[in-house]
Amino acid sequence: FSAFLTDSFGRRHSYLRISLTERCNLRCQYCMPEEGVPLTPKADLLTTEEILTLARLFVKEGVDKIRLTGGEPLIRPDVVDIVAQLRQLEGLRTIGITTNGINLARLLPQLQKAGLSAINVSLDTLVPAKFEFIVRRKGFHKVMEGIHKAIELGYSPVKVNCVVMRGLNEDELLDFVALTEGLPLDVRFIEYMPFDGNKWNFKKMVSYKEMLDTLRQQWPELEKLPEEESSTAKAFKIPGFRGQVSFITSMSEHFCGTCNRLRITADGNLKVCLFGNSEVSLRDHLRAGASEEELLRVIGAAVGRKKRQHAGMFNISQMKNRPMILIELFLMRQ
Ligand code: GTP
Ligand code: 5AD
Ligand code: SF4
Repeated sequence: FSAFLTDSFGRRHSYLRISLTERCNLRCQYCMPEEGVPLTPKADLLTTEEILTLARLFVKEGVDKIRLTGGEPLIRPDVVDIVAQLRQLEGLRTIGITTNGINLARLLPQLQKAGLSAINVSLDTLVPAKFEFIVRRKGFHKVMEGIHKAIELGYSPVKVNCVVMRGLNEDELLDFVALTEGLPLDVRFIEYMPFDGNKWNFKKMVSYKEMLDTLRQQWPELEKLPEEESSTAKAFKIPGFRGQVSFITSMSEHFCGTCNRLRITADGNLKVCLFGNSEVSLRDHLRAGASEEELLRVIGAAVGRKKRQHAGMFNISQMKNRPMILIELFLMRQ
């Protein structure tokens, strides 16, 4: 495995997340303000060719999984083409996408043909009116249609990301779990994380332990599944149910020790930690005509500086961190 992608704690970074756009067709409250976020000028965003050049380099060095993120990746006009071209890279085993689901049903047949292997859909409520309140747009039925389309086309499990916020959707945990009885879903309850501008506070965060207690009261037979290496999620299953339920405990029990992720933002910065604010512009090096060797040295130096773990719940909530949408999601602002 490449020394450039191995950090000083011996973690091998074989999972690359690439943000395809900073734009989003929703305005989720936990992500960004109503008015949206100031966007990077188009000329400063990575071109498709630059994305593929970087992907090729990372795959050559040992990356075997790429996840396309955003903003909302499915609003990039050439997303299908990007998947198809990534599919040509020898050594790349998994191409995943994390989407808000709005355009999923429409694009999925083409994406599947292009070689998309895994789908994570964000959905924080099962109540249509609440959906509109949380995401400040319409579209609940489209997202549900997208999830069902993914199941129909054989994706299994389809992962559903649910950010749990006190006073907003914590009362829906059991309804989400009930969905896994008949559907091959992995419903993943995510602890609410602080990013610039999303008004995070401890009281709004519902911890893994608390969520688990709620589930156990209803389903004492809830069974813990073996841990998957480098997974963000702790998985559980109710015997007899088709799907499973997981928890992403970024806040209460970080999983930095087995972190294998790197990310590239839409404007071409390499970010070695979701909660780190040190970034290096790969785009600038590319555009200055850097050779592969030079790029690898820049990447290796950044990976070499990666910290053992994030700064802890309190410190993260105090620090400046690029809003999630500008990191990769369809989320918020500085
Ligand atoms: P899989 O590849 O299917 O395991 O998905 P994933 O969980 O890596 O990615 P997804 O885009 O579905 O993100 C879901 C949640 O995982 C996010 O909301 C974050 O809470 C968390 N997450 C993703 N990447 C990181 C990371 O690098 N560090 C931390 N701490 N959390 C992350
Ligand atoms: N805390 C936790 N998860 C978040 N996501 C977006 N913003 C936050 C936040 N503040 C989730 C989205 C998406 C995933 C990639 O990150 O729901 O599914
Ligand atoms: Fe990886 Fe950083 Fe997230 Fe820890 S906080 S899991 S090191 S990205």
